[in-house]
Amino acid sequence: MCGIVGYAGRRRAAPLIIDGLRRLEYRGYDSFGVATLGSHVEVYKRCGRIPASIPDTRSMKGTLGIGHTRWATHGAPSDVNAHPHTDCTGRIAVVHNGIIENYASLRKKLERRGHSFRSETDTEVIAHLIEENYAGDLVKAVQESVKSLDGSYALLAIAEGDRRIVAARNASPLVLGLGDGETLAASDMTPLLEYTERVVFPEDGDIISITPQGAEILNQGKPVERPVELVNWCVDDVKKGGFEHYMLKEIFEQPRVFYETARAADPAPLVDLLRVTPALTIVACGTSYHAGLIARYLLEECAGIPVRVDHASEFRYSIPPVRNPVLAVTQSGETADTLWAVRAARSRNCPTVALTNVVGSSVTRLADAAIYTRAGPEVGVAATKSFIAQLAVFMALADRLGGGSLAGSIATAHLSIGDLLQQDVEEAVAVCGRARSIFFVGRGPFYPVALEGALKMKEISYIHAEGYAAGELKHGPFALLTPETPVVAICLPGPTYRVMISNIKEIKARGAQVIGIGLAGDGELADVVDVFLTIPGEDPWVHILTASVLLQLLAYHTARSLKTDIDRPRNLAKSVTVE
Ligand code: M6R
Repeated sequence: MCGIVGYAGRRRAAPLIIDGLRRLEYRGYDSFGVATLGSHVEVYKRCGRIPASIPDTRSMKGTLGIGHTRWATHGAPSDVNAHPHTDCTGRIAVVHNGIIENYASLRKKLERRGHSFRSETDTEVIAHLIEENYAGDLVKAVQESVKSLDGSYALLAIAEGDRRIVAARNASPLVLGLGDGETLAASDMTPLLEYTERVVFPEDGDIISITPQGAEILNQGKPVERPVELVNWCVDDVKKGGFEHYMLKEIFEQPRVFYETARAADPAPLVDLLRVTPALTIVACGTSYHAGLIARYLLEECAGIPVRVDHASEFRYSIPPVRNPVLAVTQSGETADTLWAVRAARSRNCPTVALTNVVGSSVTRLADAAIYTRAGPEVGVAATKSFIAQLAVFMALADRLGGGSLAGSIATAHLSIGDLLQQDVEEAVAVCGRARSIFFVGRGPFYPVALEGALKMKEISYIHAEGYAAGELKHGPFALLTPETPVVAICLPGPTYRVMISNIKEIKARGAQVIGIGLAGDGELADVVDVFLTIPGEDPWVHILTASVLLQLLAYHTARSLKTDIDRPRNLAKSVTVE
């Protein structure tokens, strides 16, 4: 799960590519590199983040080049393992996102034939294969080389004497941007937005020849046309806009994102399927999985549709006997586990639908139909606005299937989210910031909200955090409660209110501090908790959204107080394209 950028045009390629790589750093950020083609191939690559300025690349004058930002899979982060990788002669350079599964056997064969390797990466075999197949035509060399590769790849190659970039795609994302006298290629649209709104999504098996004049695509040796699409994201979407972190900016975008997604997203493909077969299986990972768990409450309660929710990473290995529609929820549309779950569902002849934020992403090609959220690009590694957008679609879906029962909630939710953003969480931050471990508990739909709150907290603050169904704490985790183990308890009016109050008293009796999340003006709750965080409004469905946003703020400000790298937490990447 790395990021790649290619540029062929009239400007100096190196600074433009490095700028594009900065926008892709969310995909991986342990090392980076760029190769340009002038009179010869020049390579600059380093371990670590991309610095603000890189004087050593100023001498790279080529107007055609490729670049890479890495999330290590084969070989530790180091200068040598950073991409681009070159062949024995240094005249061919390659960047690659994906995994070459048969690289070890390929490497042995290539070494036996006299090639010398410098890195431990799977990618380097591609450079040496192209070297063997290159006789003056880079397209032919790449075409021939990819025949030997098993695995996933979006790759870009350049060669001395050939004034084009040649790209190939198989099961890894790649987008082409068609500008005016310049053509770009990248892992997603964000590096392209500054230069063009016209994009093309190559398909698996495509080999693409990229020049300043455009892109020619071959598949199985024959020219093919791929539609040119217009993107509706703009370059301001991928800038911080005065916020200290992307995550905070994205949290504050949520009233708009909810409003736009709830009105513009079209759940019709799923509505039609569920009217015929009223049962749904949802597959997803991480935050998207938590959105799926909340969808279960919405669809079962408002529309009477039974919903099963599976971790996508488990679904493939024990495919349940489902015949009903399968919905894959994935912000990026590129999560490998989720893509495999869709393939597994298709192998069972289940109709499949994708719910994603990214037009043209891999899941949209795999599934029978797609529903899009309108979150705009999400840059912070922690999912925030994409989660709220997924919930907006689920509320719209439940409303359609449930005869309009959620119309009032949908109409006002953005206002309540806006009010919630003013909430002061400092006192709770002080408690969390001192903790070694934090429990998040809730009941009913607030149980998945608690799971999501814990995921946000651990992901960006590095404090151990667990989400629990509040009633389960007494079945074991009580043993862990101490004054240093605070519990965040979501306790809102509804059928679980009284039992939550009892649970909170049980927790307090075992010495833990409780941060209670409840309705503004709830004196009973305020009296039993140590820190009281309030959420506005009376609508129980909207409370799911506002409580979630409040927990995002709590995680963000706790992480900020601990000075962690909020937008790029250690060891993670935004889209996880390995199983
Ligand atoms: O792109 P996806 O929605 O498929 O991503 C799934 C998870 O990797 C993602 O939600 C992850 O858990 C987030 N970093 C959580 O904030």
